[in-house]
Amino acid sequence: MPQGIKSSETGVDLIAAAAIAEGQAREVETASGQYFLVRKDGQLHLYRNFCPHLGTPLNWEEHRFLDPDGEWIQCASHGALFRIEDGLCLAGPCIGKHLHAVPFQVVDGIVTIEPESDREISEQQPA
Ligand code: FES
Repeated sequence: MPQGIKSSETGVDLIAAAAIAEGQAREVETASGQYFLVRKDGQLHLYRNFCPHLGTPLNWEEHRFLDPDGEWIQCASHGALFRIEDGLCLAGPCIGKHLHAVPFQVVDGIVTIEPESDREISEQQPA
C-alpha cells in the first residue's frame, strides 16, 4: 500500500480534497490501482489512470494530466483529449470512449472510494 493511503472495510482514503487546486490534477495510487483527480469549476473528478486506447497510464510526468491550457485531460502517449467533466474522448485514437470514472465521497475532507471500486478497477481491461 503506497504511503499515505489508508484502507479499511468501509473505504479507501486517497487524498485530502483540498490538495487539488482549481485547474489542477493529482495522481494517487492504492495497492489495487492508479487514479487521478482533477478539479474544474470547483468540482472534483476522479478517474482511473488508464487510457481506453491502449490501457497505459495517461501521464508520463507526475501529476501531469491536462493539456497546456488546462481545458482537457490529455493522454501523453498519442494525445487523445478527454472532457474533464465526464471523461469522454473527443479527439484522438479512442474517440467516443470514456475514461473510467470512479465514484467517491469526501469524508472529513478526505477523498474516499469504496473498497469494491478499488478492487474492480484492478481487474479491468481497456475498453
Ligand atoms: S494510449 Fe492514450 S491515446 Fe494512445
